Amino acid sequence: MKLASPAPLSVWRPLALDDFLVGAPHYPEHVDDGYWQRDAERMAAAGFNVVRMGEFAWHILEPREGVFDFSLFDRAIAILGQHGVNTIFCTPTATPPRWLTATYPEVLRVDEHGRTASHGSRQHADTASPVYRLHSRRITTALAEHYRDNPHVVGWQTDNELNTTVSTSYSEATLREFRRYLRGRYATIADLNYAWGGDFWALAYDSFDQVVLPLTGAPGHPSPGHVQDFHRFLAAATAAFQHDQVEILRAANPDWFVFHNLGRLVDIDFRGEFGHDLDFLGFDIYPMLYDEMQRTGGHAATQALHLDVCRGFSGNFIVPEQASGFGSQPAFSTMTPEPGEMRRMAMSSVARGADGLMFFRWRPAHFGAEIYWMGIIDHDDVPRRRYEEAARFASDIARIKRELLGTSVRMDVGIAGADFDNQEAYKTYPIGLPSPLEDATRLHRYCYEHGIACGFIHPEDDLSRLKLLYIPHWLMWKPEWDERVEAFVRAGGTLVVGAMTGTRDADNHIIRTQAPGPGLAGLCGVRVEEFGRVAEPGSDGLFPIQAAELGQNKPAERPPAGSTKRRYRFTLGNREHETAHLYELLETEPDVEAIGHWSNRFASGRAAVTSREVGAGRAVYVGTYLTDTLVEGLADQLFPTAGVAPLVPDLPPHVEVALREAEDRKLLFLLNTDAEPVTVPDVPAGTELLTGRPVEGALPLEAYGCAVVRLS
Ligand code: GAL
Repeated sequence: MKLASPAPLSVWRPLALDDFLVGAPHYPEHVDDGYWQRDAERMAAAGFNVVRMGEFAWHILEPREGVFDFSLFDRAIAILGQHGVNTIFCTPTATPPRWLTATYPEVLRVDEHGRTASHGSRQHADTASPVYRLHSRRITTALAEHYRDNPHVVGWQTDNELNTTVSTSYSEATLREFRRYLRGRYATIADLNYAWGGDFWALAYDSFDQVVLPLTGAPGHPSPGHVQDFHRFLAAATAAFQHDQVEILRAANPDWFVFHNLGRLVDIDFRGEFGHDLDFLGFDIYPMLYDEMQRTGGHAATQALHLDVCRGFSGNFIVPEQASGFGSQPAFSTMTPEPGEMRRMAMSSVARGADGLMFFRWRPAHFGAEIYWMGIIDHDDVPRRRYEEAARFASDIARIKRELLGTSVRMDVGIAGADFDNQEAYKTYPIGLPSPLEDATRLHRYCYEHGIACGFIHPEDDLSRLKLLYIPHWLMWKPEWDERVEAFVRAGGTLVVGAMTGTRDADNHIIRTQAPGPGLAGLCGVRVEEFGRVAEPGSDGLFPIQAAELGQNKPAERPPAGSTKRRYRFTLGNREHETAHLYELLETEPDVEAIGHWSNRFASGRAAVTSREVGAGRAVYVGTYLTDTLVEGLADQLFPTAGVAPLVPDLPPHVEVALREAEDRKLLFLLNTDAEPVTVPDVPAGTELLTGRPVEGALPLEAYGCAVVRLS
């Protein structure tokens, strides 16, 4: 199954597996074994080749401390194996059994209000706890030794969605580990005091033993340096917890692949030890849930955004949990995919880099906190439309997989992403401004809707395949990236740098020279003289500001109408734009062209957007945050000269397009994300692989229809 050890992390990296994994997370422990034979037959008939099991079953695998019983899973794995369905097993550490938390209560997380986590849900044990790590190593070792020679166990998932329910803990045990981490990070307490700004508000410590955990609102704000290091610690602890498991699994059987299924991307540094340890990442995708949680307006674009973000960490991935139907936990429920839409959503995952996919879940639970989280088979054990669609998807994959595997996803526009420090630096001090991801989402959405190949990429990755790179307000721009982006520009690339980039160093101190720091300032020929806040378009002043952000207990009140609102405008091309969030006044070098100007109030006439020719490319600086109209303006101004164009011309609304390519082949995915049939008017010549028909010109797509064209 596994062809090679993982190549270095890169957005361009395909999976090194010899087959496309297709199947479902499966919980044989939720039904009696009378179901199992029929389940296996139905999975085989649907074309499944894999299931995932065991992630919440520690209490069955080790019913009492040191007493193991794998018999239930041995039998389930064997029956599935007889039908050609392999198993991915999971380390079951998201849900420690009750005996463990009762005997070792120090492993339980404590929240910021001092409440100790309770048994009965999940992720209540702290992955930073040395005692919990010991038990994690014990159960992983027992499982690895038991399954090392089982031919049907082909790979492993570590834990389940680490940090998704909660990532923090404020227990005594966590504090001890935090102090230990800091002792490793700083040679002396004076170094820590310098990094955290010990002379501000008398926060300096006399020794590491005095260091506290950062609490917001108790009563004011901790230092950004303190908060950043707490999150670095949590990420390091999460990586170390996983590393224990990976080491044990790899020693037991080096042919196993090992991955983790990401959920919420919290306190994990995927491009650090966490990602290097794995063969590939898994990303669980619930487009309708994510869209509702983030109110991003459209689950198809939201799905694309999440997957493109994920691919930025380490390249192609698998989707261990792909939404299949209605989903709920007691406090919420999601919209329901319409007929054909489950297959379309799965195909969108493939278009954006999935080299394996499992539909969550084989059948829904009859008990517990997810009784209405539907699966492929219904509660009454009857396969209906979701089963038919899963089978259709599996047969689609059978048609395309030979050409699909080994390809990577085309990106003409890259957005700087996948950097833990920059993500956290923003969060330590958000001041009501959009996060880098929120800002980048506007550009991503524009590209998605216009059929432009776009994704996320880390500056340390291979930038040479991009035409344009956007840096969305990376506060902690690192000097070691300067040379790489300059080489990209000199070779013909277009670099676009957003406001506030490069304003802080690795300790979260504001730099002592003008932004954006010597490297980017030298490249763009721009220095920031002044910055200030502006109201969002359409808003009444600077509100809403979250009361919690202010560290106050009373809700923020709106200012009286007309009190503080200031609007700044600028021109770009032949259009005047209203500014959002922030303005910057720029000093420019003589060879820098101002392509946008502030156009009212005191800033009138000053440069707002600049461009400088460097080598065969250009470096653009944007002295404000993105709005939808500014993205349109930048696209009009920059895309034609950068060579950025849609993958197909005249893309109709609601059609998603993506290209997967290798040196000798290009697969164009065209996906109708709507219930109305549509025709794509101008598709390049090729063969549509799902039907085997030749295509050139108009290509009709049924409701939620999918086409994969191998271009000639
Ligand atoms: C995922 C999780 C699953 C299940 C699913 C539906 O986040 O990994 O165990 O809870 O969501 O809620």
